[in-house]
Formats: sequence, structure tokens, C-alpha cells
Amino acid sequence: MPGTSLEPLLAAREIVICCGSGGVGKTTTAAAAAAMAAAQLGGRVLVITVDPARRLANALGLERFGNVETQVPPELFAEAGVEPRGELWAAMLDTKRSWDELVAVHAPDPGTRDAILANPLYENITSRFVQSHDYIAMERLYEIHASGRYDLIVVDTPPTRNAIDFLEAPERMADFFSSRLLRWLTVPSRSRVLTMASKPFYTVADRVLGSQFLQDIAEFFLLFQTMYDGFVERAGAVTRTLADKRTTFVVVSTLEASPVREAEFFIEALRDRGFPLGAVVLNKVLPPWFLDKGATRSATGLRRDAEALADELVPAVAAGGAGAGLGEPTQVARVLAEVGESYLNFQVVAAREAEQRAELAAHADVVATVPYADHDITDLAGLLELGESLWR
Ligand SMILES: Nc1ncnc2c1ncn2[C@@H]1O[C@H](COP(=O)(O)OP(=O)(O)OP(=O)(O)O)[C@@H](O)[C@H]1O
Ligand SMILES: [Mg+2]
Repeated sequence: MPGTSLEPLLAAREIVICCGSGGVGKTTTAAAAAAMAAAQLGGRVLVITVDPARRLANALGLERFGNVETQVPPELFAEAGVEPRGELWAAMLDTKRSWDELVAVHAPDPGTRDAILANPLYENITSRFVQSHDYIAMERLYEIHASGRYDLIVVDTPPTRNAIDFLEAPERMADFFSSRLLRWLTVPSRSRVLTMASKPFYTVADRVLGSQFLQDIAEFFLLFQTMYDGFVERAGAVTRTLADKRTTFVVVSTLEASPVREAEFFIEALRDRGFPLGAVVLNKVLPPWFLDKGATRSATGLRRDAEALADELVPAVAAGGAGAGLGEPTQVARVLAEVGESYLNFQVVAAREAEQRAELAAHADVVATVPYADHDITDLAGLLELGESLWR
């Protein structure tokens, strides 16, 4: 039997990366796990979130700060009735600003830095760059971890097209910087523009895009190449951090067919790359009592005997004097039958969920289950409540 609590994992690791397919609850799980760690384990805990829902961002005090790490006010814990042993910090990932900071770090001198940041293509290219977001998430994580400012960093991951993209982002970035495309683009721009001009395609491109545009491209890549060594080295370091013993991955999934498939795929991808899978979190699951065999009998009975039950129930309730009575027996019968029917339908879903759960549980040492909450999670109290399920 796998364990059911994230507590030992979070106590032992320095970086926890929450991943999984879109909308399964990565952001919520990351924030809840971090809040629990800050409350129960102590130390300085940081959660790095990606595009949190606005209300959750507000709840963490992130609305004004964005990229900057901000402490979640201890008063919020007090309001939730919890006295935290440590500190909870939060940061949001702002891709544009993180790129700017990265350029500032790697540019060889202030002049080059300013030229890159002012290049009209810079923003466009870095924001559209395949996996720009994924890469910057890993990069930022690396920088913050290396700073030693936190005992634990819980990382939310972007809603990628493919959940494993970000694992490869540092490597791809290094590949890009050593690619032939980049070398070609950075041959001294004058000579290349001349070579280009001799070819019909580029003559057209030049006319359509304007030679200023081609010059901007050349300049951009030329400037960018000055950061080559720094980038490649850094990308390697980021990849090593992901595989480090102090790092662990938590795969979040609901128990619907498609997220489960993606979770399995992701678990395999982690294994192939030697990245440690610490736990699987099954989110938004139905409560286990839906599988209760006794309840099947009750629901079947309600559905089958709805009319007879309503005939007995209506006068009995009226005689008992409770409330305003139940109303017409035919209506009560319909409600009872519908309740029985939907309960049985939920049981079918719960049974399917149990199969999916068994399949996923085979892969991990820790499998935590979080029930479906009937309300949105928008404040620290909600996160801590959800977090209790991660801790059990
Ligand atoms: N256990 C739960 N019960 C009910 N609602 C939940 C639960 N977990 C998450 N939610 C809600 O589901 C929605 C999606 O959650 P969340 O934003 O954490 O998912 P995500 O995986 O980060 O999504 P994305 O891939 O878009 O980043 C949110 O509105 C959140 O409040
Ligand atoms: Mg998210």
C-alpha cells in the first residue's frame, strides 16, 4: 500500500514540482501543499505559481507584486484559525519580467543588455519562443533555489500542451543556442543581408518586411549570442537541479480518462529521464462512501419503491408536524426515484474512478487523494482545508 500523506516528502525535499495536464488542480495543489508545509513543518516555504485564478492570487496577496516574492501575511493564517510554524511566501511567474532579468544577468555589459531589451524583436521572440514559458519557469526556480532563501520551494507548472514539455525546456534552450539556425542568423549581418539579397526569396522578404526588419533580426540574434555560454551552462545546471536528490515531482491528476492517460505518460517520462516521482495527487475525486454496497441497496430501493415510500412518508411527516410538510405524494415519489437514480449513476463513476486510481497508485510510493470540494478554493482557509487531505 502506498502512503497517503505528502508530509514526509515535503519535509525531506527542497524542491517540489507539481505537474499534470490542464485544469486538474496543479496551481491549487501547489498552493495548498506549500501552505500546509509552512503551517506544519515550519521554515521558509515559497510557492511559485503560474497564472493563478485572480481570486487565488488575491488570497495570497499577489495582486500587486507579480514576479516579486511576497510573504503571505501571518494574519491570514490566524483568520483561518491556524498558527503557522513557518513562513509562507508566494510569487507569480511573469515570463516577460523573468526574461528581462535573465538577460540582465547574462549580458556581457550594460550596453549589450540595453540593446537587447530595446530591440523591437526581443519581446516578440521571447514571448513566442517555443517553450519560453516552460524554460523561464525552470530558470527562475533554479535561481531562487541557488539563492538559498527558502527551505522548501513548491512549483506550479504552466498549462502546457504536453505536460513533459517543460522537462525538456532547458535542454531545448541549450540546443537552440548551439543550433545552425542561430549561427546562420548571426553571421555578420552585412554580408548575410548581401547574400540574402542575391536570392529571390530574400529579395521578396526584404521588400515585404523591409530591410530594417531583417537588420533587427540579425542584430537581435547577434546580441543574443553574446549570452551563449551563460545560457548553455545555465540550462545544464537547471537540468541537473531537476534530477537532484533534493528535488521531487508530484503528478496531479483527476480520475477522468484523459488526465489519467496523460499522468501515466508523464510518470513514464519522469522515469525515462531519471527525475524522481515523489507522489501522485488524485484531485477532485468522489468520496469513498459512494462505493458502499449497502448504499446500492438503498438507492435501488428508493428508485423501485418511490411511490409506496412517498405514500407512507408524506402523511408521517405531516403527522410529525415537521416544517411545512413534503407536499404532493406524486412529486415526492419523483424526487425519491431521481435521488436513487443519480446515486446509482454516481456509483458507476466512483467505480470507474476506483479502477483508474488503482492503476495510477501502482506507480508511486505516495498517493494522496483530495475530494471534490463543492465550492471554489479562493482563500487561505480553503487551501488549508484542501491541504488537510494532502497531509492525511
Ligand atoms: N479539489 C477540488 N475541488 C473543487 N474544485 C477544485 C479542486 N481543486 C481545484 N479546484 C478548482 O478547479 C479549477 C482549476 O484548478 P487549478 O487552477 O488549480 O488547475 P490547474 O491544473 O492549475 O489548471 P491550469 O492547467 O489551467 O493551470 C479552479 O477553479 C480550482 O478552484
Ligand atoms: Mg494552473
